[in-house]
Amino acid sequence: MERTSVGIILNGVTGRMGYRQHLVRSLLAIRDQGGVPARDGSRIWPELTLVGRDENRLAEIAERHGLSAYTTDLDAALADDAHQVYFDAQVTTAREKAIRAAIEAGKHVYTEKPLAEGFLASLELARLAAAKGVRNGVVQDKLFLPGLRKLKRLVDGGFFGRILSVRGEFGYWVFEGDWQAAQRPSWNYRAEDGGGITLDMFPHWHYVLEQIIAPVTAVTAVTATHIPERVDETGARYRATADDAAYGIFELAGGIIAQVNSSWAVRVHRDELVEFQVDGTHGSAVAGLRDCRIQHRSATPMPVWNPDLPATEPFRAQWQTVPDNGEHDNAFKVQWEAFLRHVVDDEPFPWDFLAGARGVQLAEAGLRSAREGRRVPIEEIPR
Ligand SMILES: NC(=O)c1ccc[n+]([C@@H]2O[C@H](COP(=O)([O-])OP(=O)(O)OC[C@H]3O[C@@H](n4cnc5c(N)ncnc54)[C@H](O)[C@@H]3O)[C@@H](O)[C@H]2O)c1
Repeated sequence: MERTSVGIILNGVTGRMGYRQHLVRSLLAIRDQGGVPARDGSRIWPELTLVGRDENRLAEIAERHGLSAYTTDLDAALADDAHQVYFDAQVTTAREKAIRAAIEAGKHVYTEKPLAEGFLASLELARLAAAKGVRNGVVQDKLFLPGLRKLKRLVDGGFFGRILSVRGEFGYWVFEGDWQAAQRPSWNYRAEDGGGITLDMFPHWHYVLEQIIAPVTAVTAVTATHIPERVDETGARYRATADDAAYGIFELAGGIIAQVNSSWAVRVHRDELVEFQVDGTHGSAVAGLRDCRIQHRSATPMPVWNPDLPATEPFRAQWQTVPDNGEHDNAFKVQWEAFLRHVVDDEPFPWDFLAGARGVQLAEAGLRSAREGRRVPIEEIPR
């Protein structure tokens, strides 16, 4: 079948996200399935050029996956007309500069979140991309997870009646790095290196809340650095300067209240690493990454508070599982396919830089709320 090749520069491919989710689970998986169907009957085919700082590691990854193009020279890659798309999964602090250069070179840009470290910088990238006329997008992977897709289906189908509240619980224990290796890179725990759970997770909560439930109108947050000292990849002790927990209350349009706890210093007593409970007048749901359970008002038990007796109801057993009703592919891959169709066929892609900037706006507002001990309204950003 005829191919429509799209040259993609992949920067940050030696990192956790760049390698596993974007290279292996998305772009190589797309090639394995023979590309993405284009409107003209051809298959959109990603041609990959790996970019990074360490040539040996790039060569090793390229060889492992039968790829031939890699370079440590981003400018040269950007100057090459064979590449139409720049993708960024570098550490957050390195992103803005690289994306500016990519826009300047006329590349379409797709990037990991957060779009930049600050809201104004993010808005500026959105403005520059629009002025240059390049397609742009930010990863919003959680929207494509089976559990949250099922939640969205419930909302769209009117299951909840009037939605009252959302309670989200995200987190797990990230080891300190001394007696057991930390399972996240150490830069996440240093503010000066773009770390912090608020900047990391509030952009996710922004699009999840806005696109599944309702737009966020205000935030009140308390942040903490529960573990003040950690041990890095080389075994050296360092001071954790970034927040490792954020306790947020988000006011949503329509009077809905969402509370989301995010923590890297919590042990999991849940079914999944993130879960959202949505309560509405007609029913409730608990959605995780994969699963979604519901309780309709007609099946709601009538618990009576009596601490003198053991629990009389098997509460968890009273919920019903929402069926998949279809295949759910890797969330990052689904969004990559949409971005490629956006580039080739001009298909709509609402998860653009402006959407990403609004996620950073919420993170910044959450940090300000915590710093100043007050509720921070979210200003609307006109399109
Ligand atoms: N969408 C998601 O669910 C999700 C999850 C985790 C991380 N992320 C985002 O992905 C990005 C990468 O995170 P990660 O966990 O893969 O990080 P990582 O540390 O594993 O990888 C970072 C990559 O950036 C490169 N890099 C470039 N300049 C660097 C510098 N000055 N110092 C250190 N590394 C540099 C590294 O070589 C590496 O390839 C971050 O922006 C993060 O916010 C997104």
